[in-house]
Amino acid sequence: MSRIEDSSRFRRGQPVTIVVDGERVPAYRGKTIAGALLATGHRAWRRTRHGQPRGLFCGIGVCFDCTVTVNGTTNVRACLTPIADGMIVETGIPMEHQP
Ligand code: FES
Repeated sequence: MSRIEDSSRFRRGQPVTIVVDGERVPAYRGKTIAGALLATGHRAWRRTRHGQPRGLFCGIGVCFDCTVTVNGTTNVRACLTPIADGMIVETGIPMEHQP
């Protein structure tokens, strides 16, 4: 899966850059962190305590499979969190209190 580059049929927000695990990642204002991660090839961005990969699952904020750390705040749901320019996202950190 990749980002649709021909945007003539839909509107996009202003281009911004976020930092994911130290790497600058292009994104668009108004989209979610999960959208930016998927568009740049990230499919799983955390692991359970048993080592199972997790990423986008429900996409509506219910399952908590998509959590990332944003600007130092842990357990942020990537599917619900809008992009902000310069946002620092860390992946791969196990979710606290996970079942
Ligand atoms: S994908 Fe389920 S809470 Fe984000």
